[in-house]
Amino acid sequence: MSEWLEIGVIADIPRLGARALTINGVKIAIFRTADDEIFGLEDRCPHKDGPLSQGIVHGRSVACPLHNQVFHLDSGMGADPDDGCARTIQVRLTGGRIYIASGAGQQAAE
Ligand code: FES
Repeated sequence: MSEWLEIGVIADIPRLGARALTINGVKIAIFRTADDEIFGLEDRCPHKDGPLSQGIVHGRSVACPLHNQVFHLDSGMGADPDDGCARTIQVRLTGGRIYIASGAGQQAAE
């Protein structure tokens, strides 16, 4: 069973923006869509480690800032399956507060 770690409030992240943080030594990107959905991905593009937190969010996707490959925020999958898959981080939004699974960093590092 996951324990949940509060990492902030939704207002900390601009719409169509992201916030980067490090949990258990792993860089994590938390994204907010225009519809106030929250998603988490490891902040490392599967192509060449670009910082996805600095990418452009559109719909439920993010475009990597380095070479513009697009990844789905919910699954981490590349829009083009050949682009690979970014590791997802479990997040939860409750009453405007954002939580991530406490083992998220460890999962991402495995
Ligand atoms: S590092 Fe992300 S598209 Fe190249």
